Amino acid sequence: MSDIKETGENAALLHAARQGLAAQPKSLEPKWFYDEAGSALFEEITELAEYYPTRTELAILAHNADKLARYLPRDGALVELGSGASRKTRTLIEAAPHLAAYLPIDISGEFLHGVARDLRQLYPALEIVPIVADFTRPLSLPAPYHKMCKAGFFPGSTIGNFLPTQAADLLRQVHEWPQMEHFIIGIDLVKDAETLIAAYDDAKGVTAAFNRNVLRRMNRELGANFNLSGFAHEARWNNDCSRIEMHLVSLYEQTVTIAGTHYAFHTGETIHTENSHKYTKDSFTNLAADTGWRVAEFITDPHDLFAVAVLTPAV
Ligand code: TRP
Repeated sequence: MSDIKETGENAALLHAARQGLAAQPKSLEPKWFYDEAGSALFEEITELAEYYPTRTELAILAHNADKLARYLPRDGALVELGSGASRKTRTLIEAAPHLAAYLPIDISGEFLHGVARDLRQLYPALEIVPIVADFTRPLSLPAPYHKMCKAGFFPGSTIGNFLPTQAADLLRQVHEWPQMEHFIIGIDLVKDAETLIAAYDDAKGVTAAFNRNVLRRMNRELGANFNLSGFAHEARWNNDCSRIEMHLVSLYEQTVTIAGTHYAFHTGETIHTENSHKYTKDSFTNLAADTGWRVAEFITDPHDLFAVAVLTPAV
């Protein structure tokens, strides 16, 4: 234990591991996936043959850029939730030279400021206003932008990683931001279980490595003793909840020790690490209606794999 750094981040991970692994069923929040190795693995996932969402959404955005640009306000601002590398956003920004400002929100400050610097070079006429924040918590936008007309952007089907109640809270929060005229959201659609499962359990095992990386991280950062080959990656389709679940399945009866506490696993017992909810046009329209929005546009690819919805306040 003596070589474990007592940083705030480690303390938070330890707290999360204690809570999640003492619970029944065991679970861990997906945010712990994203250390440096996890972020790199995630980038790899988005390029896998089986992982259709990223390229399908990019194609929808590219093919409909002019149509979508008409929903972005003249002399207004585009606000992106969880902007990351802002890769998908460029398609919109380039189709909408009439925008005055881009407000990317991301939890990772260092990364966000680097991306903002690059965007300023690329789009010198656009005001770039990075906001370091966790958008799942109550958040008010900087005062100078309250009066400006705004559109929101939330690609990646990230809304699917929230439970329906959390997704509703998020849609309500964006609805309450002043002068929010449209909200453009990427949504992964319900489809056959085989296609869905393959997207979260690829042949090369990248998603498996991504899932197991959270165990590696607990070993490294908390001094835990997970045997990585003692846990299998599993992607499950939960039809009742309309979601893909990622689990780490204990392959035998074992005990893992983290900071002096023992956690027992039965054979087949799992740690539930992620949900990815899939919507239909109807189920998403209902969620939007429950949170103050109307669906103005619902654009899909030719195979109905993925959708980009444009929401507008219902009243
Ligand atoms: N939001 C995307 C999805 O649910 C991306 C994503 C988040 C993801 N966590 C993941 C993809 C874990 C694969 C595995 O598909």
